[in-house]
Amino acid sequence: MFNKRVKIKELLTWQAQDQQVTVMGWVKTFRNNQFIALNDGSTNTNLQVVVELGKFDENLLKRVSTGASLKVEGTLVASLGKGQSVELKANKLEVLGDADPEKFPLQPKEHSLEFLREIAHLRFRTNTFGSIFRVRHALAFAIHKFFNEKGFVYMQTPVITASDAEGAGEMFKVTTLPFDKTPRNEDGTVNFKEDFFGKATNLTVSGQLEGELAAMAFAEIYTFGPTFRAENSNTTRHLAEFWMIEPEMAFYDLEDNMNLAEEFIKYIIKYAMDNNREDLEFLAQRLQKEESKLPQDQRSSMSLIEKLSFVVNNQFERITYTEAIEILLNSPAYKKKKFQYDVKWGIDMQSEHERYLVEKHFKKPVIVTNYPAEIKAFYMRQNEDGKTVAAMDILAPGIGEIVGGSQREERLEKLEARMKSMHIPTEEMWWYLDTRRFGSVPHAGFGLGFERMVLFVTGMTNIRDVIAFPRTPKNAEF
Ligand code: 4AD
Ligand code: MG
Repeated sequence: MFNKRVKIKELLTWQAQDQQVTVMGWVKTFRNNQFIALNDGSTNTNLQVVVELGKFDENLLKRVSTGASLKVEGTLVASLGKGQSVELKANKLEVLGDADPEKFPLQPKEHSLEFLREIAHLRFRTNTFGSIFRVRHALAFAIHKFFNEKGFVYMQTPVITASDAEGAGEMFKVTTLPFDKTPRNEDGTVNFKEDFFGKATNLTVSGQLEGELAAMAFAEIYTFGPTFRAENSNTTRHLAEFWMIEPEMAFYDLEDNMNLAEEFIKYIIKYAMDNNREDLEFLAQRLQKEESKLPQDQRSSMSLIEKLSFVVNNQFERITYTEAIEILLNSPAYKKKKFQYDVKWGIDMQSEHERYLVEKHFKKPVIVTNYPAEIKAFYMRQNEDGKTVAAMDILAPGIGEIVGGSQREERLEKLEARMKSMHIPTEEMWWYLDTRRFGSVPHAGFGLGFERMVLFVTGMTNIRDVIAFPRTPKNAEF
């Protein structure tokens, strides 16, 4: 029976009283043919397993190498060694799976993140990735907890859809049509009537539109699922497949939306701080070590933990897009021509601009509202000025945009006019427009990029390191 195993995280909290326990895990190191550091993924702290000299067959001990998996039955005793209060005196030792030391790529030394990306199937076994993925789990759990406590309904919106929610045309096509003999219409276009769904479909870029439909009945819903974007952005902030949380609320205006987003972000960070202290402290040390290689002026002024507490305990700054542009135009960076991209009212702010606002100017998360309509999606509520929409983006230090949201256009004529002007097919979106025909209400919502949130909380700097198996241009390994 395997389930008798005690998790190492729990075992390390016990008082040693000669208990007989079974543990299982993977060997981190084996020193002096005597001390096995065993890890089972429940914590970065290894259990020290002590092998008495002469007690076990030499051939068995030879198989205890870094990466091998073990089942150990033993006696829990007080440890004389430094760094742990208990250790396990092995009575029975079984190698469940060997790991040929000549071939196992993870050695008990520091490996570069680039190298570890190439062996993403094994990198969970390192301390860094152990901590990252336990924190990722905690954040996911906290997200459901937050919305459940508020009475939101969790909606699972479709992954395959025929609509482009963001209208940006960055979609992966879904089809079963053959690439060679593609069925054609008379005018030479692809005949999607012959396709699996009888129409052109794609992987969803956002669950928002379907979320809005549900919010028109449950009032408050959220989605949490994978989304896909075929944008060819090979950056440290973009994935082709990422997870997004999209709450959608009836009877909310832009300000209610901002308040919810701010409360939500603070809640989930606090949850991780309260429940994953050890992992966050490990990641904070890792970051500090990483930053010590940088010149002084590029290092963070706060430790990771200080930064997270700061965000939890301080109000986010709230400014309009117009104010943001003013700040940028008056900045020393702009005057000294430090920005690569131009600044003027109407631009889609580049990440250098967003990072200037949060990292240099305000030194805290910033919510930017009321963007020019021209650069935002069709569904955002049109403001009285005829130029801007009731959008809000949250920008986070070190990350840039972490949340994108808006109050939605609930007025049928205005929405239809905007869609027509943007060449969005209103007939195909009849179901979306129906919500504006039947009991339309003011409503709002936002999308939090989950991996960007995990980046922020773990202090990692490349989005490929906070999702198990990243999908990016020219990369879909594992
Ligand atoms: O700003 P976006 O495109 O907004 C939407 O999709 C809306 N439908 C959300 C809503 O109002 N319900 O994306 C939302 C967030 C971004 O702020 C960013 O954090 C993340 O999703 N995101 C990405 N994360 C990783 N890789 C990408 N390629 C991303 N694109 C967006
Ligand atoms: Mg956005």
